[in-house]
Amino acid sequence: MSELCPTVRPMNEHEAVERTRRHYDAVAELYDSMVRQGDDDAGALTRAMINAFASLVLAGGSDSAVLDAGCGPGQWVDHLDRNGIRAYGIDVSPAMIAIARQYRPDLPFEVESMLQLKAPDRSIAGILAHFSLIHTPPDLLPAVLVEFARVIEPGGPLLIAAQISDSPGDEGWTPYDHRASPAYVWSLDALTERLRAHDFTELGRMRIAAPAQGKPSAGYLLARHNAYGSAQI
Ligand SMILES: C[S@@+](CC[C@H](N)C(=O)[O-])C[C@H]1O[C@@H](n2cnc3c(N)ncnc32)[C@H](O)[C@@H]1O
Repeated sequence: MSELCPTVRPMNEHEAVERTRRHYDAVAELYDSMVRQGDDDAGALTRAMINAFASLVLAGGSDSAVLDAGCGPGQWVDHLDRNGIRAYGIDVSPAMIAIARQYRPDLPFEVESMLQLKAPDRSIAGILAHFSLIHTPPDLLPAVLVEFARVIEPGGPLLIAAQISDSPGDEGWTPYDHRASPAYVWSLDALTERLRAHDFTELGRMRIAAPAQGKPSAGYLLARHNAYGSAQI
């Protein structure tokens, strides 16, 4: 992974997307088998947050679909669908999307980047970004959040999951040697601040203990897009 050290120089959107696509296409089957194995403790906490997100979507009463941005093999689109929520998944990795379609050929999965969403303005009931923003170079994160703020309906919930750190440095993030592709750990406070600049307000958060010494904890941040936001994006 050293060839791809994320701190060497800024990447443009195209380079970042192509890097992620290449890396996840190479590990898609392995990733899928790991995801399907699950983890009882972390899995229970994860489902609690995803179900809280789902409850907010249902309470919002929108007829629109939920977007799983960076859906990987599609397990959360499947989960949301089984819980009565219309959802679709996008991912830059065609191999991931092929796997998602194999499991659920009846659900919509598309190869697409969250840096350039096809959804029209204010057309999405809620957005899930489950460990998918972690590969976005920090200087490109605002471009993703502009897209999220553009497509989400007023008041729609956003759930972000990411590896986190309490001491990520002055900028709020630090590079992380992820097994699949270069990644970045954030502090939840820094993520909340970035979200605020795009009219998302934090509703709550959760930390899942690190799986082993030296590994980062996982953080969940549940936010809502302000119905009548005023921030300049
Ligand atoms: C760690 S995996 C998480 C997959 C799934 N969300 C899960 O929870 O298992 C990260 C996924 O995000 C996707 N991804 C990363 N950057 C993306 C982008 N800009 N647009 C769409 N997908 C992206 C990757 O291709 C990969 O499938």
